[in-house]
Amino acid sequence: MICVRLINNDYRYDVTELIKVFYFNQQVVFIDTIRDYSKGLLIEVGLIDRLAFTKVYKDSKLIYEVRIDMGSVNIGDCDLEKRRKIAIIQSLYDALDNLSAVKAPWGVLTGVRPVKIVHKLLDKDYVDGEILSILKDGYRLYDEKARLLVDVAKKQRKHIYPLDENRFSLYIAIPFCPTRCLYCSFPAVSVEKFSHLVDEYTEKLIYELDMIGEITRSKQISTVYIGGGTPTAIPYKNLEKIIQAVYRNFDREEIQEFTVEAGRPDTINEEVLKVLMENGINRISINPQTMNDKTLKLIGRQHKTKDIIDIYYLAKEIGFPIINMDLIVGLPGEGVREIKTTLKEIEKLDPENLTVHTLAVKRGSTFRKVMDQYEIKEQEVIYEMLSEIKDFTEKMKLEPYYLYRQKQILGNFENVGYAKKDMECIYNIKMMEEKETVLAAGMGAISKIYFPKEDRIERVPNVKSLNEYLIRIHEMVERKKVHLT
Ligand SMILES: C[S@@+](CC[C@H](N)C(=O)[O-])C[C@H]1O[C@@H](n2cnc3c(N)ncnc32)[C@H](O)[C@@H]1O
Ligand code: SF4
Repeated sequence: MICVRLINNDYRYDVTELIKVFYFNQQVVFIDTIRDYSKGLLIEVGLIDRLAFTKVYKDSKLIYEVRIDMGSVNIGDCDLEKRRKIAIIQSLYDALDNLSAVKAPWGVLTGVRPVKIVHKLLDKDYVDGEILSILKDGYRLYDEKARLLVDVAKKQRKHIYPLDENRFSLYIAIPFCPTRCLYCSFPAVSVEKFSHLVDEYTEKLIYELDMIGEITRSKQISTVYIGGGTPTAIPYKNLEKIIQAVYRNFDREEIQEFTVEAGRPDTINEEVLKVLMENGINRISINPQTMNDKTLKLIGRQHKTKDIIDIYYLAKEIGFPIINMDLIVGLPGEGVREIKTTLKEIEKLDPENLTVHTLAVKRGSTFRKVMDQYEIKEQEVIYEMLSEIKDFTEKMKLEPYYLYRQKQILGNFENVGYAKKDMECIYNIKMMEEKETVLAAGMGAISKIYFPKEDRIERVPNVKSLNEYLIRIHEMVERKKVHLT
């Protein structure tokens, strides 16, 4: 347990999040007075006049102290409140960085979308050198992460600007999977157990698409993404009806990119791929996660490496121009050797997109309950594995184009999408940077309405339970109507 006493501030959330970066499994308890502390670690974080400070005590003895003058905080032009907050959080970061063996390459940043900071600075005409210095001095990022953010932001801008409040992307959720993967916490149900509801789900989903079509008549569609779950887990006739409903409701000519997350190789065959191709899908995902059969079995995927390879070649033969492959670094039992094996196989396939996730130990996952049975790799090993991936992507001319971070991610790392030149997934960029409305249909799907003038989004979530979605479908439509008409 770590005791924390805040002095002249109330940044509980930010302080907790940053402490958890360095002390992953520790409970953080806030105390009001020193009388509530007796032994163990006590961190005092505060501000007196313009001086931010962090003092760390161990068993009542002061072991470290940092002071930062608010005037020295380099984060570009910002209001006093933000400067005060960053000074306080910087002092906490500097103290923990000194005391803990854990590395925090993302500095004081604990949010999901760090690229947004760079877009804001670019919008204000800061040049690269200034941005890098703000990221490194102000936000305490390691040099490689700062450069990664700038590279990613620059790649994205042509897909984001000019902002247009009449343009939107469409997300469609198919929340069915063949089996539950060990690490997964996404809202999805077993397609076998709920097969009796697949037709009704298709029907209700199409109704929702029809209604979204009606309320967006004066707007312009840009990209479509069918994700899940595993969209190809449902019969292809259902999937085809859903795709046709998209074309019936929205201007097909305007759709720049249409992705279907085929995901699990055990749900794809020649027939499904041909149906997707005939229906104008120009980007699919075939996700290995790993190319080691032992791990695939352990994480509960029903396919083998050979199935991934066979399906990939088949999809290429059928003619899909962009295929994405998802990988996860840090899967149980995997180290540098296993990553090298995976990359050797991926090299032969040479996909246009590669999305590299670092394992996140999610609360809702089976893994969280059984993680004690497995060895969780040290931060240095994860770093080494990610370095292998960095070298590999450079060699394969795959460039980073979108990035996000998650809570409970191993080693404080990140998820990065890589793409060959001009083959970035436009939907992923728009969805991550939140500069265009995304209208979302289906169970658990979250619409985000973007207001460019105020640069803010409004979240409009659909319900996360299958039965509730089927019963409350009219309410899901009404929720969106309120914001759009
Ligand atoms: C929503 S899932 C859908 C993909 C598809 N159903 C599949 O499994 O192939 C998208 C991706 O997130 C990644 N993912 C899911 N859970 C994760 C976790 N706990 N940690 C890291 N990555 C995760 C996987 O790489 C997965 O392919
Ligand atoms: S990782 Fe994909 S296939 Fe596995 S349970 Fe999650 S959504 Fe389903």
